[in-house]
Amino acid sequence: MVLSILKGARILATGSAVPDLSIKNEELSQIVNTSNEWIVNRTGIQERRILKNKEESIITLASSASIKALKNASMNPLDIDLIILATSSPNDLFGSAAQVQAKIGAKKAVAFDLTAACSGFVLSVITAAQFIQNGSYNNILVVGADVLSKWIDWSDRSTCILFGDGAGAVVIQSCSKEENGILGFQLNTNGKEAQQLSIPYKENDIDSKHSHLLHINQGRFQHLYMNGKEVYKFAVSQVPISILKCLTSLNILPENIQWLLLHQANERILHAVANRLSITSNKIISNLNKYGNTSAASIPIALDEALKDKKIKKDDIIVVSGFGAGLTWGTVVIQWKY
Ligand code: COA
Repeated sequence: MVLSILKGARILATGSAVPDLSIKNEELSQIVNTSNEWIVNRTGIQERRILKNKEESIITLASSASIKALKNASMNPLDIDLIILATSSPNDLFGSAAQVQAKIGAKKAVAFDLTAACSGFVLSVITAAQFIQNGSYNNILVVGADVLSKWIDWSDRSTCILFGDGAGAVVIQSCSKEENGILGFQLNTNGKEAQQLSIPYKENDIDSKHSHLLHINQGRFQHLYMNGKEVYKFAVSQVPISILKCLTSLNILPENIQWLLLHQANERILHAVANRLSITSNKIISNLNKYGNTSAASIPIALDEALKDKKIKKDDIIVVSGFGAGLTWGTVVIQWKY
């Protein structure tokens, strides 16, 4: 999508936070019938971080990542106009963003959750950019945070090896049109394949003494379900198309990008997408060996680490794509401005 903008938007700074507890593949092989070799060969994952006690939560992770991002931006929390929390594992079905707002002291900020699974961070950055590029807000905190350890069936070897908990945050600020760093985007949804990756809600039959008056069905959310093969095929076929459409609309050739930052789901997916676009593997940003798939947090954590490692330089073009449940997938092209 080619943007028609009143103002520019650019990412000012990043921050991230993961739980202290690391679970290595060998430890998982004591819980389910798997092996370090199988997990590394099929996914590239070596360890993941998991919430360990009741003091840690999605709120503490998201707040810690946010405070680091604000510090790196030399910004007071009171300067934030809007907080968007991308998450599919809130600690409250009504949303968790307001709790993050309170915890970091950003009391002037409007705060809401955005639920789009592993595409949540990309969608949130694009949403934030709209508020800035149309002149509504100046400073927006976008946080991607998920704690899918709460929703995994830890006896299911096909899923429990894949996921980890974490949070990443970026501060997006308004700037002149010439300095705009969020260049364009391309988004997709295919709800017909929603069943391939889901945390479904299931209703129970309720035997209520009031059932002759009120026919109310209630239930609960189930464990995460995934058809791994279908999700794999979807990602490697659709993500390159989204990236190409987005780059074409911006007149950028794949060989002219500096970095490919995909949702950190599986090392094989990262390389398959890069191969299809003839992007060399030294341009792939990857840290999933340490954290597994942290859903909406994976892209901002990887971005934060790439910046800390001084990989990304001023004016570098970073192609960022998210994909996952929904099914949802999409691309945002960012130019680094610092
Ligand atoms: N350890 C050992 N064996 C395992 C295993 C595990 N953790 N999980 C599955 N297996 C077994 C299966 O039971 C199967 O055995 P069988 O051949 O005897 O039936 C065999 O390994 C192959 O399973 P399969 O599901 O075909 O493996 P795969 O090559 O498709 O890899 C995934 C599985 C999950 C790694 C892969 O499908 C994938 O990465 N999918 C995308 C997932 C994803 O990215 N999701 C998030 C998107 S946001």
